[in-house]
Amino acid sequence: MESRTIIEPFRIHSVQAIDLPDQAQRDAALQRAGYNLFGLHATEVIIDLLTDSGTGAMSAEQWAGMMRGDESYAGSRSFFRFESVVKDITGFTHVIPTHQGRAAEKILFSVAVKDGDVVPNNTHFDTTRANVEYQGAEARDLVIAEGLDPAVILPFKGNMDVEALRATIEEVGTARVPIVMLTVTNNSGGGQPVSMENVRAVLAVCDEFDIPLIFDACRFAENAWFIKLREEGYEDKAPKEIAQEMFSYGDGATMSAKKDGLANIGGFLALNDTDWAVHARNILILTEGFPTYGGLAGYDLEAIAIGLEEVLDENYLRYRIRSTEYLADKVHDAGVPIVLPAGGHAVYIDAAAMLPHIPSHEYPAQSLAIELYRTGGVRGVEIGTVMFGRPDPDGGPDSPAAMEFVRLAIPRRMYTQSHIDYTAEVVIDVAERASELPGYRITEQAPWLRHFTCRFESIPR
Ligand code: F0G
Repeated sequence: MESRTIIEPFRIHSVQAIDLPDQAQRDAALQRAGYNLFGLHATEVIIDLLTDSGTGAMSAEQWAGMMRGDESYAGSRSFFRFESVVKDITGFTHVIPTHQGRAAEKILFSVAVKDGDVVPNNTHFDTTRANVEYQGAEARDLVIAEGLDPAVILPFKGNMDVEALRATIEEVGTARVPIVMLTVTNNSGGGQPVSMENVRAVLAVCDEFDIPLIFDACRFAENAWFIKLREEGYEDKAPKEIAQEMFSYGDGATMSAKKDGLANIGGFLALNDTDWAVHARNILILTEGFPTYGGLAGYDLEAIAIGLEEVLDENYLRYRIRSTEYLADKVHDAGVPIVLPAGGHAVYIDAAAMLPHIPSHEYPAQSLAIELYRTGGVRGVEIGTVMFGRPDPDGGPDSPAAMEFVRLAIPRRMYTQSHIDYTAEVVIDVAERASELPGYRITEQAPWLRHFTCRFESIPR
C-alpha cells in the first residue's frame, strides 16, 4: 500500500508532563510578565512554539552518545568526532565549536567586520543583525521582493536578490563589504528556502568582487530537503549530497546546533581561511574556551555529532517538513492569513493582514501572540516591529519592521499531531475575534534586542 499519512518516524521513549494552566492563571502570568511572552514560566505554557531552538527531543542514540562524552580539556575524542562530522558535511577546513550560534557570529564579525562596513544577507536573524551592528556595521537585508509578500507562492522565497547584491557592492565599494551571508532557511523571512541556483548566482557575484560567502546554516538540512522537493535536478539526490554541494560554494558558516544539530545547546564557526581561523580561535579562547571544546561539554559535542547525521535522514526530513505544512494547511484552510508556502520550521501568521486596525507602532503581531497565549496557552513569538522596529529618538512612533508575523515554531520531534490540532483550534478561534484585539505600547525597553525583556500595556480602545 502507498500510504497517504506521513507518520512520525520514531516512537516516544520518555515523556515530560505538560501543565494545563487555566484562564485565571494565564491572565495572571501575562500581567506579571508585562505581556512579554519571554517572561512566562514554562509551567504556564501549554504548547510552547516560542522557538525550535534547543527545544527538540534528542534520540536515544544521542543520549547514549552523551554517556561517551570525553571531557578532556584539550584534544578530547568527542571534539574529533564532532569535527569529522562537520567537515564531512561542510567540507570547511577549520571547525571551531561555540556554545551556540550567536557566539559564532560574534567571533566571525569581530574578525571580519569593521566599523562602517555593510554586510548583505538575504535576511539577518535578530542576533545576527545585532552582532553586525555591534561592530558598527550595517546589516542589509536583500531578500527577493516576493520574499516580502506573505501571500505570494514561490518555491524559493528565501532567495537573495542578486542584482540588489551587486548594486550594494558597487554602491559601497568592495573594501566595505567584507563578507556576504546567506541564511538557510530564511528564518526572519518566513522559514523560506534558498535554491541551489540562487546560491550559485550569489557566489558568482562574490567571486567577481572577491568577497567571501558565509552561510548562516542553522537550518541547512531543512533547506536541502526543500531543494530536493522543489529544484530540478535534485530529486534523486540524498539530503547530505545536497548540503555538501551547497557548502562547497561557500567560504565558511556560522551554525546553531540547537536547530538542525538536533541538540539542546551548541554551535560552530567553520572557515576555510586560515588567518581568520587563527584570529577566531584566539578570540574563542578569550570568550568561549579552548578550541577543542569552545564553551561546550564533551558530551554536547557527541550529541551534536550524532544529531548532524540524524537530521539528514530522509524519513526524518519528510516528517519534519510535512508536520509544519500540516499546521499551515489547517489554519490556511480556515482563512487565517499566513506566509505561503509553509516554512520549514514554523508557520508564520501574517498579523498585518489579520489585524489591519492595529498600526505597526502598536504591535499587531505582539497583540496576536498575547491573545494566542491568553486563549489557549499557545506561546509563539512576535517577529515584527517589536523585534525589528526602532524607537523614534524624538518619542514619535517606532520605525516599522518590513513584516508583522507571529511565528509558531515547531520543536523537532516533540509534539504529536493532536498537539498541533489543538494549536490550530486556538489560532482559528482567535482569528474569528481578530477585530476585537487591542494595540499595545511599550513601557520599558533595552537599547538592543529589546523584544526579550521589554514590557507592554494594552491601549484602551
Ligand atoms: N541565525 C538564525 C537564522 C537563527 O534562527 C538563530 C537563532 C541564530 C542565528 C542564533 O543562534 O540562538 O544558537 O545563538 N534562532 C532562534 C530562533 C533563537 O528562535 O529562531 P543561537
